[in-house]
Amino acid sequence: LSVLLTCCAAQTLDVDGDKIVEVLTRLANFSDHENPAVTRILFTPNDMLARKFVKDLMREANLVIREDPMGNIFGRWEGSDPTAPVVLTGSHTDAIPQAGMYDGTVGVIGAIEAVAALQRAGFRPARPLEVLMFSSEEPTRFGLSCSGSRALAGALREEELEGRRDAEGRHYLQVANEVGYGAASTSQLLATSRLPPGAVAHFVELHIEQGPLLEREGVSIGVVTAIAAPSALEVVFAGEGGHAGGQLMPDRNDAGLAGAELALAVEAAVLATGAADTVGTTGTFEVAPGAVNSVPREARLGIDIRDIDGPRRDGVVAAVLAAAQEIAEKRKVRLSSRVLNQDPPATCHPDIVEAVAGAAQQLGLASRRLVSRAYHDALFMARVAPTGMIFIPCRNGWSHRPDEFASPADIANGVRVLALTLARLAGG
Ligand code: GLV
Ligand code: MN
Ligand code: MN
Ligand code: MN
Repeated sequence: LSVLLTCCAAQTLDVDGDKIVEVLTRLANFSDHENPAVTRILFTPNDMLARKFVKDLMREANLVIREDPMGNIFGRWEGSDPTAPVVLTGSHTDAIPQAGMYDGTVGVIGAIEAVAALQRAGFRPARPLEVLMFSSEEPTRFGLSCSGSRALAGALREEELEGRRDAEGRHYLQVANEVGYGAASTSQLLATSRLPPGAVAHFVELHIEQGPLLEREGVSIGVVTAIAAPSALEVVFAGEGGHAGGQLMPDRNDAGLAGAELALAVEAAVLATGAADTVGTTGTFEVAPGAVNSVPREARLGIDIRDIDGPRRDGVVAAVLAAAQEIAEKRKVRLSSRVLNQDPPATCHPDIVEAVAGAAQQLGLASRRLVSRAYHDALFMARVAPTGMIFIPCRNGWSHRPDEFASPADIANGVRVLALTLARLAGG
């Protein structure tokens, strides 16, 4: 720590927020929707351009690049003890449809900048430091969140990955192979992506809060103590459909109305817990055939349920599935449902909580502890290494929308805290 204090005192740690935002803005141009909306789906041409952009930045920061078969990208700064377990930091650059330019990207571009700032300050890590860009934190393409980190943590089964198809009916391995990642088989893909036990000393992720607390309280740094348990369901109701004029009301089994009832049942089940930490969203709701003069034959709902309390979240999932069953019987529609994921929450490691809080204090920045209601790759990295997260404020807590915003000053603060945290964890 004494080395750290002399070489990386706040005043020597030079981080330029405007420059980082300029890089983030360039990255935001790799998007399927026009600025300010960002849409960047796994292994699409824009995702591949973003990957090249990130690798070029890593090279400029003198990092040695390694990519695994899942498409996770690592940039390594060698430690004075190259055999020591690595200190890892990173996040994602994929973006759900019509998202903003800060979710995930701040933790990738910011990590490269944190390393560059440490290099400029003359710091030399004892443990190797690696910046990581995870593959597919967002579930958009394959309905599976955190694909890259699940694989790294050995938390992804072969059947689970093979069971996922994109809209064209293709699976992860196929698409990965087409863009130059991948392996001979899914089992090899997973086996060769898994981190060896003990390989990671610490993992820390910088991210925008995606909630309103820091901005509301005028606090610069959020020290994350836990990550909520996410779950996603897909429910399909199927009826007979028919002519909107010809088919009399008593003769219908309208799948759309079954879906509408279920969306309300999700809200009711969530509110019934009485806990502010329980949240549920019917984020997709498609009816087919989708014509104004046609009784919906099919309703397909994507439902997201989360809680910081795992068992309480599981109770809501069970209540929603029971409601779907009841609605299907009442409305005489067929039901099929699938739990896409039902992951436990994660607790951040006290050593990293302390390191982040200490770094903020060293920089004279106000901090507070909070939980993450969004999920992150840190949720899975916590299974293989002591893990923590650093949050910075974002405007109105907005995220997953084009007007998502974090100020250059807040980003620079987050990057400084990350840099000092990494220095503390890596040792100098
Ligand atoms: C990921 O972005 C999430 O939904 O938390
Ligand atoms: Mn996101
Ligand atoms: Mn994110
Ligand atoms: Mn997320």
